[in-house]
Amino acid sequence: MRVLVIGSGAREHAIAWKLLQSPKVSKIYAIPGNGGISNIAECTNIQLDDIDSLLEFALKESIDLTIVGPEGPLVDGIVDKFNEKGLKIFGPCRKAAMLEGSKKYAKEFMMKYQIPTAKYVAYHDLDNAIKGLEEFTFPLVIKADGLAAGKGVIICSDKEEAYEALRGILENKRFGNAGNEIIIEEFLEGTEASLMCLVAGNKIIPLESAKDHKRLLDNDEGPNTGGMGCISPNKILDSKLMAEIKVKILDNVLNGLQNEKLDFKGILFIGLMINSVGAKVLEFNVRFGDPETEVVLPRLESDIVDIFIKTIDGTICQEDLIWSQKSCVCTVLASGGYPETCEKDRAISGLEKVDRDVLVFHAGTKKENGIKTNGGRVLAVTTLADSLDEGRKKVYENINKILFDGMQYRKDIGIEKRKDWCYESFL
Ligand code: AMP
Ligand code: GLY
Repeated sequence: MRVLVIGSGAREHAIAWKLLQSPKVSKIYAIPGNGGISNIAECTNIQLDDIDSLLEFALKESIDLTIVGPEGPLVDGIVDKFNEKGLKIFGPCRKAAMLEGSKKYAKEFMMKYQIPTAKYVAYHDLDNAIKGLEEFTFPLVIKADGLAAGKGVIICSDKEEAYEALRGILENKRFGNAGNEIIIEEFLEGTEASLMCLVAGNKIIPLESAKDHKRLLDNDEGPNTGGMGCISPNKILDSKLMAEIKVKILDNVLNGLQNEKLDFKGILFIGLMINSVGAKVLEFNVRFGDPETEVVLPRLESDIVDIFIKTIDGTICQEDLIWSQKSCVCTVLASGGYPETCEKDRAISGLEKVDRDVLVFHAGTKKENGIKTNGGRVLAVTTLADSLDEGRKKVYENINKILFDGMQYRKDIGIEKRKDWCYESFL
């Protein structure tokens, strides 16, 4: 089977790495890929918003299965276009991808299908939005409606910050057309959890849970990033809470997808906020999470090709997913200046010294007289171990062997705090 992976992050490296383990895969292609993916896949440069050229490539290379990493091509309708030509592709159709492509649409969907989420209002006009602030107490959250490369969520602690955020988005078009509308949302206290689910026709099947670490600095301080590290499992999602999530969230999501006739054969990523009253949905993504994929796929023991194909043809069931009971820890090494700016072209040394059982998924890297940095998040150093503690030690021992100018990373990935696993701690 000839498989195409679209994207260039550590998430796509983890997907390609897992595909390589399948005896069914004869060749892996990646567009555009990165310095690490190019060791296991043939990489080609095509703009990801050029869906016609992506389709032409898949037809020319007789691709049997396409996996889409980032949300952009999904929101642009890549699945619809590939399906029209009879190509197998894993992901939601354009209409269903709006669950990530428009925060307002996602909120309306949640309200209509009684999916617990934060209270919100939507505006496209600055004056009304400023008046709308009166309905909320501070802190509150302001979100650009459309895709804003993970930067469209602003937590405001007072009126000044809220005015500045609203003006920036609605008047100064800080996020371009993605900010034609905004939502103002109630701030939810609690601890976050990531739950990726396979959606296949009339089924929604959760994968093993994960916990992202979005803030740049230790102890969840500093600015938000794309994700600085991850662990799986996320202990707060115990069987009791998962049973509640199934009834209050997953069943309602499935009912909504069916009722709205949304064709979805892929991953629905549910970002959750958990506190003493249970779980509420912060966001939907219509694709694998990054860095969640880097910690969940190493725990998957089943052949991932079977999972993709069975999801697309609707025959997938819970028993197809066999999981390792081990823990997985991943720490992201980022470039100097990230997340505001990012230094590039820095030589990366020490990769050859990393232990053989440690996975180093590449994100912003390129091959150029060795391996150089080429983006904000550079490497995701990952290990599977008998315990979180053991995994954490191994990850940090190996990070000590890797170096590039400006390298920054969190030192606390895998250290558990009571509020991370016990929702009663919010009582
Ligand atoms: P989103 O892209 O909507 O998940 O937002 C990015 C991050 O902003 C989340 O992972 C949370 O850390 C934070 N966030 C978003 N919405 C809320 C909310 N209503 N209350 C508290 N934090 C939020
Ligand atoms: N880790 C969150 C995301 O992939 O959007």
